Amino acid sequence: MQLFIEEDYEAMSKKAAECIACFINQNPGALLCLAGGNTPLGVFEHLIQMQQDGKVELNSVYYAELDEWVGLGYEEVGSCKQLLADNFYNKAQIQWERVHYFDGLATDMEAECRLMERWLADHGGLGLTLLGIGMNGHIGFNEPNGSDARGCFTVQLDEITKEVSAKYFNKVLPVETGITIGWKELYSSKEVIFIANGKQKAPIIQKSLYEAPTATVPASLFQTHPSLTVVLDQEAACKV
Ligand code: F6R
Repeated sequence: MQLFIEEDYEAMSKKAAECIACFINQNPGALLCLAGGNTPLGVFEHLIQMQQDGKVELNSVYYAELDEWVGLGYEEVGSCKQLLADNFYNKAQIQWERVHYFDGLATDMEAECRLMERWLADHGGLGLTLLGIGMNGHIGFNEPNGSDARGCFTVQLDEITKEVSAKYFNKVLPVETGITIGWKELYSSKEVIFIANGKQKAPIIQKSLYEAPTATVPASLFQTHPSLTVVLDQEAACKV
């Protein structure tokens, strides 16, 4: 594991963006999976700025959405699709055919899983995956003690995930289910980057990186990943 502890959120975001840009420049045509949530928003801003400065071509790779709230589509403030499209793909002018999203409004979620699996396979599997870490140690919607099936699946959301979800929405949304790329598929990514900021993440970061790997803390299962980079701000790193 390569660990970077940066001074603040801004520096964390810049460092992670530089790692991603470096990967893209070395691996045109690769498939990337970028987490939604609040943590990567600064990374997206830096990547877009780097593209404007001619330092990376974000249209030279493909993208797979990590996860989605079942029942939410682009129109819903806080859906993963809206967050990613509005904060990254559209701003970066990424061609729509380079991105595959889960359709949270689809009637057949099994079919959505198979479509994503096909997208992953057709693009040679994941090259780089950027992950935020939930307050319960989840990655994507791989919840504590969740499935270790390969591929993609739907999950019953953990109580902490449901509680935390309110921060993304502009109204009360009783989300119960998520659809996600499974952790084994994410683990098969050639490179994985974890990012986290803020002191509220410090205890779960410590558990994820330094306590024995356990399905109770899904992020901890990545300790053995052959190419894991962790980028933290000082607050998130205060217990490591
Ligand atoms: C988002 C996702 C989640 C978040 C995690 C951290 O697509 O899959 O696993 O990465 O919950 O969320 P934030 O960054 O909002 O703290």
